[in-house]
Amino acid sequence: MRIKDKVVVITGGSNGIGAHLVKTLINSGAKVAFGDIDQESGKKLAEELNKEHKDSAIFVRCDVTDKNQYLNLFLEAEKTFGRIDVRTKYLLIEGTQIGIKFLKKHGGGVIINTASMSGVNPWYVAPVYSAAKSGVKTPMVKKAMKENPNFAEVIKRHGTLSINEVVNAFIHVIENDYLYADVVKVTQTNLLEVLPKMKL
Ligand SMILES: NC(=O)c1ccc[n+]([C@@H]2O[C@H](COP(=O)([O-])OP(=O)(O)OC[C@H]3O[C@@H](n4cnc5c(N)ncnc54)[C@H](O)[C@@H]3O)[C@@H](O)[C@H]2O)c1
Repeated sequence: MRIKDKVVVITGGSNGIGAHLVKTLINSGAKVAFGDIDQESGKKLAEELNKEHKDSAIFVRCDVTDKNQYLNLFLEAEKTFGRIDVRTKYLLIEGTQIGIKFLKKHGGGVIINTASMSGVNPWYVAPVYSAAKSGVKTPMVKKAMKENPNFAEVIKRHGTLSINEVVNAFIHVIENDYLYADVVKVTQTNLLEVLPKMKL
């Protein structure tokens, strides 16, 4: 799928990987509706982007744990831009089902959910995070490093990826139609690895 003129819905778009993805997509010619609980950063980011690329972004206050707010983000995106082609990024089964309904209206699209290696290889220094689902130095990781010396030590020892490297993987998934129900793994040794499909 070509990114230019496509409409993308992103959750968690005010900071970190989400915000970088919002900027990258808009710089590539997409229209983006993004939601987040951080209204201040979200509104500021949308304002900045609309100054540079007129009518390219809308920010909608959206807590992904609230189905109605999540639905509202989609409705606002559709109302503003007329359609939705790509939905990313929180891992949320119900969210994916809602995304499918909206994408189907215009013949399909791309859905990307963000997981974490901590979900695959449970990480002893971050048990709660691992259970729910490392390292890109986003606000989330910086906060965890400050609060947990063990976490900081592991990050120092193993290093981090750049946000660009992670966002490039998102762009690759959107642009390459051969990826279908695939898992893409991004690590320092292999920036883009498509994992073999699991047999269900
Ligand atoms: N940074 C990493 O190293 C890393 C590694 C693997 C996976 N991930 C995953 O990538 C995603 C983004 O991580 P990040 O590092 O950019 O985090 P971040 O903390 O920098 O940004 C997350 C954004 O999500 C928003 N948010 C939090 N709760 C929300 C909610 N209930 N509803 C809507 N928005 C909400 C925050 O306000 C923030 O803007 C997360 O799912 C994280 O688990 C991150």
